Amino acid sequence: IVSLIATVLFGYLLGSVSFSYIIAKKIKKIDIRSEGSGNAGATNTLRVLGIGPAICVLLLDVAKGVAPALLAIALTNGDYPLVPALAGLAAILGHNWPIYFGFRGGKGVATSIGVVATLLFLPALCAGIVAILSIVFTKYVSLGSLLFAVLTPIAALIMLPFFHYPLEYIYLAVLLAILSLWRHRTNMGRLIAGTENKLGKKHA
Ligand code: G3P
Repeated sequence: IVSLIATVLFGYLLGSVSFSYIIAKKIKKIDIRSEGSGNAGATNTLRVLGIGPAICVLLLDVAKGVAPALLAIALTNGDYPLVPALAGLAAILGHNWPIYFGFRGGKGVATSIGVVATLLFLPALCAGIVAILSIVFTKYVSLGSLLFAVLTPIAALIMLPFFHYPLEYIYLAVLLAILSLWRHRTNMGRLIAGTENKLGKKHA
């Protein structure tokens, strides 16, 4: 129980460190949430600041998901899968609703990648390949993000008979897919309307 509370708290506080906000403030003295799509994430950093800062944000935001999940596994010897699942979830909630930045954060994609790549590596890899291909072909990052979120639990279920993933990890992946759909609801509206921002194009 101590490990649970400690890692969930650590996950939420670390997740709350909004790297896109911090980096945009540092290099351009702007609030990333008033620029581009208004989202505090790597995609919008790419739009507003360019590829270098975007890669930094992406890697740091992914790391925010990896660290609490790994720490939780280490503290529990991998015996209580609920602990890494909740620690990872806490990091994503922190990223989306950061305590230090007025609870206005990102959509949790990069941090979710970190969490599921740690807990469900192969399903995340398969979903990630489909997501990257979809982004390359359509230039819609949001579509790739949504595919990643939805396909990870599906891939995990398909692989369950071979890899015996803890059910807690599967439930987590389902929850993350629902959370991601919710956070991307405006993106989905634009995707349906055909007005979503494309990579490499000036946004509307
Ligand atoms: O990870 C966020 C991405 O899927 C969409 O970002 O800035 O286009 O809303 P954005």
